[in-house]
Amino acid sequence: MRKQIVAGNWKLNNDLAQTETLITSLKAQVKTSAAEVMIAPTATNLWHAYNSTKGSGIEVIAQNMHFAENGAYTGEISASMLKSVGINTVILGHSERREYFNETDETLAKKVDAALAKGMRVIFCFGEELADRKSGNEETVVGNQIKNALFHLKSADFQNIVLAYEPVWAIGTGETASPEQAQDMHAFIRKTLADAYGNDVADEVSILYGGSVKPANAEEIFSKPDVDGGLIGGASLNAEDFFAIVNAF
Ligand code: 13P
Repeated sequence: MRKQIVAGNWKLNNDLAQTETLITSLKAQVKTSAAEVMIAPTATNLWHAYNSTKGSGIEVIAQNMHFAENGAYTGEISASMLKSVGINTVILGHSERREYFNETDETLAKKVDAALAKGMRVIFCFGEELADRKSGNEETVVGNQIKNALFHLKSADFQNIVLAYEPVWAIGTGETASPEQAQDMHAFIRKTLADAYGNDVADEVSILYGGSVKPANAEEIFSKPDVDGGLIGGASLNAEDFFAIVNAF
């Protein structure tokens, strides 16, 4: 049975005090859920967040990492460094990283390899831009993003891969893919995996939807058979909204 996951991507939000305040509110809301619950604070607060959430059932994850183990990469953080502060899951390939920090399929493939080599789990993000969808190219774009960064992996590696489909036109815009659009794309993603690795692998990989998921639309999106959860931006910064989404399962 593949896992259901709701992960909050806090992006560039919350200093240390705000992180502590939000975690306190989250811990007050958490109850047994069908879904795994994760939060991704900014790098400076990972260690604090890891300690503050211990035993709460909330996993703290990272928003990014570098592919190198160490060396002359000013400003970067490695998989080992994340592991040393208790972090075992990392988001890679977010569209904001691709757009503003020039991350390419090639560098992402290296990052995925580096994370898996350290036994980390990867939430791998991808998604088409509005122009791709308008021109009917969304499946080609998404298919290529997945193949280029992931299809050198072995079948067993997919035990530690979670996919997150985030159409760029729906991120932070208030515009959401309709539940049918999400389901159609998730089914395409699962078929792309099945064609390359077989049904056993494809059936076990969780595929999350991200892009303006809110309490009001989460239940309908999560009800779709190939949607296994969500990667939540804006709504994850409010404990009530975030847990309303978690409880939509
Ligand atoms: P929003 O939920 O704010 O649209 O952000 C989605 C996202 O980018 C999560 O990674």
